Amino acid sequence: MKIISNIQDLRDQLRGQNRAAFVPTMGNLHEGHLSLMRLARQHGDPVVASIFVNRLQFGPNEDFDKYPRTFEADVEKLEKEGVYVLFAPTEKDLYPEPQEYRVEPPHNLGKILEGEFRPGFFQGVCTVVLKLLSCVQPKVAVFGKKDYQQLMVIRQMCHQLALPVDIIPAETIRADDGLALSSRNGYLSSDERAEAVQLIQTLKQVQEKIHQGQMSAESILQIEKAACAQLAARGWNPDYISIRKRKDLLSATDGELQANEQLVVLAAAKLGKTRLIDNLEI
Ligand code: PAF
Repeated sequence: MKIISNIQDLRDQLRGQNRAAFVPTMGNLHEGHLSLMRLARQHGDPVVASIFVNRLQFGPNEDFDKYPRTFEADVEKLEKEGVYVLFAPTEKDLYPEPQEYRVEPPHNLGKILEGEFRPGFFQGVCTVVLKLLSCVQPKVAVFGKKDYQQLMVIRQMCHQLALPVDIIPAETIRADDGLALSSRNGYLSSDERAEAVQLIQTLKQVQEKIHQGQMSAESILQIEKAACAQLAARGWNPDYISIRKRKDLLSATDGELQANEQLVVLAAAKLGKTRLIDNLEI
């Protein structure tokens, strides 16, 4: 595997490759990331990965400084997966001057849910993803459904800017007890790790309630409220548990619910100091 940090060297290395499959990451790789590499291989060749902890997508009080950086272990894992090129730029390589041009997603998608609780997050994600796509110029790029809204924001960005890349969604990989794999799980104490499974358990209960009967916009609100209260009673600090339409992540109207609109329930909640997110398609 070639490890490249400079944009020009990357372009030289990938010249003539027009079927590359790209997986951008922030490192600290786990089975979830490795499943993205395997899916990438099914959709293109060679597989190109990137590791870059992108300062632009972290708020001032978020975990940029303590975000786990495990470069050597990551390299070993990517080598085993047969990744051809690892693009691992420094901040100077990717942002040699202040990144003044930024991509701002539309409010109706970028400022709801994660965008409401993490101002600037999607602007930072879109800006770095556009830049990485421009550096790698892949045929396809793979993103996990664990970050459901991020996947949708990126897909829309590529569509609206007519970028010549197909965005491939990858299923969430879970631990045996159901907790979605995430680099931030490493922040949890052992007691918190045991409790963390309640997030997906709560989403499953929400799913069951929705399956039980005809929903209205009002009953959806009640279910969301009850789910938040249930987590709060266990010591969590929920940002949101929200049932939305899969197609645009907006709330469904009574009419849409009657017409069996496809839904997804999304959640973000803090357990101690660790903020976890998850979602379940209904
Ligand atoms: O999901 C992530 O790891 C990051 O948001 C991404 C897509 C690599 C952009 O920094």
